Amino acid sequence: MVQALTTKSGFSIPALGMGLWRKSYKNNLLDPAAKVDAQEDIRERAGLEHAYESGMRLFDTAVMYGWGHSERVLGEFLSDIDRTTAFVTTKIWDDAMDESTMVASVDKSLENLGTDYLDLLLLHRAPSEPFSMETAASGLDACVSAGLVKNIGVCNFGSEKLEQISKLTEHQIVLNQVHYNVKVREAQASGLLDYCSANDVILQAWRPLAYGVVSESDFLADIAARYEATASQVALAWLIQQHQVATVFKSDNPDHIDENLGAVSLELSSEDMALISNEFPGQQAVSDTVPLA
Ligand SMILES: NC(=O)c1ccc[n+]([C@@H]2O[C@H](COP(=O)([O-])OP(=O)(O)OC[C@H]3O[C@@H](n4cnc5c(N)ncnc54)[C@H](OP(=O)(O)O)[C@@H]3O)[C@@H](O)[C@H]2O)c1
Repeated sequence: MVQALTTKSGFSIPALGMGLWRKSYKNNLLDPAAKVDAQEDIRERAGLEHAYESGMRLFDTAVMYGWGHSERVLGEFLSDIDRTTAFVTTKIWDDAMDESTMVASVDKSLENLGTDYLDLLLLHRAPSEPFSMETAASGLDACVSAGLVKNIGVCNFGSEKLEQISKLTEHQIVLNQVHYNVKVREAQASGLLDYCSANDVILQAWRPLAYGVVSESDFLADIAARYEATASQVALAWLIQQHQVATVFKSDNPDHIDENLGAVSLELSSEDMALISNEFPGQQAVSDTVPLA
């Protein structure tokens, strides 16, 4: 079983979870009616089942992942397990960042997921016109007050915006999900990691394997050899060994899922943690995909 991270405020989340973003969803970002590959559904469903049987409990989706399609695939899987054993996250898109639109969007997500509550609701990005931080904050609070959502958080927020929204919500912002891995170091370079650690906010890293690219890193493979581990395991362990850092990876491949789960029992020495922090080659101080807002 994957260990949990717990904040001082009592929020608890598995350190390692399964993401549901697919590269092919890029094709229907502009066309919500675009067809989704049914074979991908079958592979993803098998991956979810394998992950659950192997002890994974956190499943991370979003309205924008196929405009409800991902939530429906996850919902079918959830209907076959005891809902209370799963931790389900979804993310609100840009068009639903005030009280009425956000509650309506969450109602739709709950219908897609076949459940009556979310463990965690995240803003997918910082609000933009016609919405504001104030309207988004009151939307998040309304979802908690209505009993639709247990916990609230954000994605891709820099420290300034994170502080701003934390002051506006009545309920605590417990987590910030950002692009962070051995290569992409914006969370460190910008001071966000320190801010989260000091303010009882979990930083959850997305794209922890850089889409699988880290599995080919000779630098990580050399370190992995000292532990009879793999490069991907080292990349994940480097994240979850940091203070209040969790992560979500995506895989439909049972061998990769088993391999990645090995990261939870891999303990890197402080020397190797520092070696990766300081010397991993080709580090980027800003995300090339979604820079912090
Ligand atoms: N909040 C946001 O803005 C945001 C943005 C992006 C992503 N996310 C979340 O973060 C999750 C994870 O990020 P991601 O899916 O973009 O990237 P990722 O987890 O770094 O990479 C996923 C890719 O890595 C491959 N992979 C997994 N384990 C492997 C291993 N041991 N060896 C080799 N390849 C491996 C997978 O292929 P196989 O299926 O073949 O294993 C898949 O193609 C997403 O699914 C999503 O839930 C959030």
